[in-house]
Amino acid sequence: MPQSVCVTRVIPQPGIDLLKEHFTVHVNEKDTPLSQDELAQAASSHDALVTLLTDRVDSSVVEAGKGRLKVVANVAVGYDNIDAQAADDRGIIVTNTPGILTDTTADFAWALLMAAGRRVAEGDRFVRAGHFQGWGIMMLLGGDVHGKTLGLVGFGRIGQAMARRARGFDMKVLYFDPAITNFDAARDAGAEQVSLDELFRRSDFVSVHTPLTQDTHHLIDSDALASMKSSACLINTSRGPVVDEPALAQALRTGVIAGAALDVFEREPAVDPQLLGLENVLLTPHIASATVETRTRMATMAAENVIAVLSGDAAPNAVRA
Ligand code: GLV
Repeated sequence: MPQSVCVTRVIPQPGIDLLKEHFTVHVNEKDTPLSQDELAQAASSHDALVTLLTDRVDSSVVEAGKGRLKVVANVAVGYDNIDAQAADDRGIIVTNTPGILTDTTADFAWALLMAAGRRVAEGDRFVRAGHFQGWGIMMLLGGDVHGKTLGLVGFGRIGQAMARRARGFDMKVLYFDPAITNFDAARDAGAEQVSLDELFRRSDFVSVHTPLTQDTHHLIDSDALASMKSSACLINTSRGPVVDEPALAQALRTGVIAGAALDVFEREPAVDPQLLGLENVLLTPHIASATVETRTRMATMAAENVIAVLSGDAAPNAVRA
């Protein structure tokens, strides 16, 4: 029987073409996530799954794949949508797409930082609503970005890329990351390691770049927000549940912090209705890595992982359970 791969949603064509050179490929052409039953069915009848972060590959899906499924290749760097331990227990390899989306994601987080600080989306809405009736010296005042302090929660690849960008804006960079053991990048970027409390207290911009784990769930809660400056802006391009959304909405409404920009949400695609009603939060639909180049490379990288595993080679990007 030829080896077969199920791609759970439409991905950039070069990834599919690469898989087709080696395997029978089934693509869910509807661009909507498979149901849990459909996912389990796909796991039981293919040698590999190419998944997206909207797929919940839980223990029942992996259990359905037992005996046939060899690899789950997630087209994302984050893999909190996959029960990697359950997969590991059944000898199924999980892979992700690290490295290639670092700069693209940092570019976007930077765009959000600038836009939140300088009220870009508010300005756009203001003009479209016909409110721009004449220039005003007090109109839509934001806060400077250059020369301010940037606090990075998480100093992995993307956090470090943010630190590099901050140098061009003469910013002071603080970071909190208990996982960091190699301090060269921090030294090169002139970044200072601080406690989380100190980071919240001193930063003008707090940008989140941590994976979602039990430890980081609601890391930004009402206490964290209360310890930030009232002029601070929060940027989140990591995973929604790292931020307690109702607590953030309350902090933005009551002036505990000045602004926020969110690319990710606690219950995507749902967005807390309280946030939708606020002017001082900028909302984007999880598009930080969404460039043609990067999404294409993510798709081909997932395909390369599938090809390696199904050929009996080591997966280039296997994750740790
Ligand atoms: C996107 O959110 C990713 O994890 O790649």
